[in-house]
Amino acid sequence: MTDYFRGRRLVYGLILFFITLSGFAQMPVFARYYISDIPGLGWLAQFYVTHAMHYIMAALLLVLGSYAAMDAVLGRKLPSAWQNRVNKGRLTATGWVKVLSLAGLMVTGCVMVVKNLSGVYFPHLLIIFLDLLHLALCMILLGATLYAGIRKRPWIAV
Ligand code: HEM
Repeated sequence: MTDYFRGRRLVYGLILFFITLSGFAQMPVFARYYISDIPGLGWLAQFYVTHAMHYIMAALLLVLGSYAAMDAVLGRKLPSAWQNRVNKGRLTATGWVKVLSLAGLMVTGCVMVVKNLSGVYFPHLLIIFLDLLHLALCMILLGATLYAGIRKRPWIAV
């Protein structure tokens, strides 16, 4: 059977890899643990490079997420012969964990983008809360992704 989701999965995988890499680079862990000393990886320690990369990947993730969501909603009206071409069916448990943590990352991430604008001031506690929530959701997403990968759990139940 033709796999109509290969391209989408590949794009999502690339976005997830680079958004995670640039997110952790902003903490900044790669300079602290000398990973950026490895020839060719010096850019991992340059804050504005990884910051811009995180923003670009976040924009791409929002585009891909909107596309997949529209596809899932509008695809429901298509005849069943098209079943394998659209996201028809129910999300699996790991699918739900991934979708909800991604949604949480998008919301907390966008609020932090606003916080980073010049002239915008958030209370300290709120910033710490958003930061920790963003990081916790990131760990949940990566954990669920690892589990789903090892146990071969798809996003959608067939
Ligand atoms: C729409 C999606 C996203 C947006 C708009 C976004 C935005 C941001 C922003 C603005 C920061 C910097 C926080 C600061 O100013 O200190 C940040 C940090 C970070 N992001 Fe994202 N992000 C998004 C998605 C993700 C995803 C999907 C992951 C990983 C799976 C991720 C992982 C991280 C990590 C590890 C950090 C550093 C730790 C932290 O400050 O919480 N982000 N993100």
